[in-house]
Amino acid sequence: MKLTVEEQAMLDGGGGQATKKAMQILAALGKIYGAECMLPVTSVQIAGVSYDNLSEAGLQFLSEMADGGGRARVLTTLNPAGMDIENWTALGIDQEFASNQQRVIEAFARMGVITTCTCTPYLAGNLPHYGEHIAWAESSAVCFANSVIGARSNREGGPSALAAALTGRTPAYGMHLDQARWPTVTFDVRNLPEGGTYWFGALGKAIGERLQALGGKPVAYIRGVPEASLEQLKSFSASLATFGGAAIFHMEGITPEAGLHQPPHETIPIQLADLDLAQSSLNDSTASQADFVSLGCPHLSIQEIARIAELLDGKHVKKEFWITTARPTKQIADQMGYTALIEASGAKFAVDTCCVVAPIKGRFQALVTDSAKACYYAASKNRFKTVFLPFDQVVFAALEKRIDAGEESPN
Ligand code: F3S
Repeated sequence: MKLTVEEQAMLDGGGGQATKKAMQILAALGKIYGAECMLPVTSVQIAGVSYDNLSEAGLQFLSEMADGGGRARVLTTLNPAGMDIENWTALGIDQEFASNQQRVIEAFARMGVITTCTCTPYLAGNLPHYGEHIAWAESSAVCFANSVIGARSNREGGPSALAAALTGRTPAYGMHLDQARWPTVTFDVRNLPEGGTYWFGALGKAIGERLQALGGKPVAYIRGVPEASLEQLKSFSASLATFGGAAIFHMEGITPEAGLHQPPHETIPIQLADLDLAQSSLNDSTASQADFVSLGCPHLSIQEIARIAELLDGKHVKKEFWITTARPTKQIADQMGYTALIEASGAKFAVDTCCVVAPIKGRFQALVTDSAKACYYAASKNRFKTVFLPFDQVVFAALEKRIDAGEESPN
C-alpha cells in the first residue's frame, strides 16, 4: 500500500508505540482488503466499550495503547458502555463490574477520546457531513451514516476504530469507494403502514433477510416509502444492519445518494404480509407476561423522550422500564422537565448504556420493545423472550401489571 511520508513515519514509530501499533493494524487491514492507500478521516466512533464484551484482555489492550502515548487525532466518541456511568446502582449493576467499566472509560479518556457513550453519535455532537470519510464501528450508526448522511464508513471493529482515532487514517476500501455503494437490487415496498419506528424495524428485517439470502454484498435500492423521519430511519438502519449485515441502503426520494442511481433491474416486492411476518417472528411472549420494558435501541432522540414523558405523565409503571439515550440528550430532557415526569412514574433512565450491552443476562424473562434489533440481541445474547410492539404500546405495556406464568389474566 502506498503510504504518505507522515503515515510511513507513524508506521516506523515516529509517533510513539501506540501510534505505531495503530498504523500496523490499519496497514494489515489495508493489505487484506487490497487498499491502495490510506484516507484521512474526520470522525471516529468506537464500539466494544462494555466491559461485558471487552473483558480483561480488551481492557489490557486499551491500557497498553494509553500507556504507549496513544492520543486521538480526530473527533472520537464511544458506543454504549455496560452501565450508566453516573447512576449505575439504580440499574442493579454490581460494584465489581462498575469498577472495571470505569477503568475502560478512563483508558479511553486518557487517549483524548470524548467519553460520550452512544450508538447515535450523530445526535450528540459527532455528526459528519455528506461525502466525509469516517471510521465508525456501531453497525446501526454506520448504516445511518452511509445511507442517510452520505458520509463514508466501513463497519470498523473496536481495534481498527481505535487505530483510526490514533492515526486519523483508514484504509481506502469498501464503503469509502464509489463502487461498493452502488445499488444492486430494488425493493418495491407496497402498503407500508403508517406509524413510528415499529414498521420501519419490521421493514428492515424483511429486506435484511432477503439481502442475506442473495449472498455477496448486495446494496438495496428501496422504492415506495413516501416519507421517513430521523427516528424511523435510525430504526430501519439498525434493523437492516442486524438482519442483513448491510452498511448502506438507498431510499428513493429520501436518502441523498438514491438520486445518483437508476433502480437496479432485479426487483423484489415487499408486501404487507412480509412485514406482518417480520413483526410476528419477533414476538414469542405477551406483554402481560413480560417483566422488562425498554425503549431506545438505537438511543432515543429528544422527540422520542418527550413522547414518553407525555404518555407517562401522572402514571406509575409496574415493570422495570429503561429509557436508553445519550447523556447530552438526557441533559436536554432534564432541562425540559421530561426527566422529572418520567422518573416520577418509576421508569429509569439508562444513560450511556442499553438493554443489550448491560450485563443483565438472567435477570429478566421477557423484554418489550419497539426495536427489531433489540429483540434479536435480547434473544441471542441475553436469552430473553421478546415482545415487539409499536412505540406507544411499549409504554402502555410498562403500565400493565405483570401476569406471572399460571396466573389468570384479570381480563
Ligand atoms: Fe444501540 Fe444498544 Fe441498540 S448499542 S443500537 S441501543 S443494541
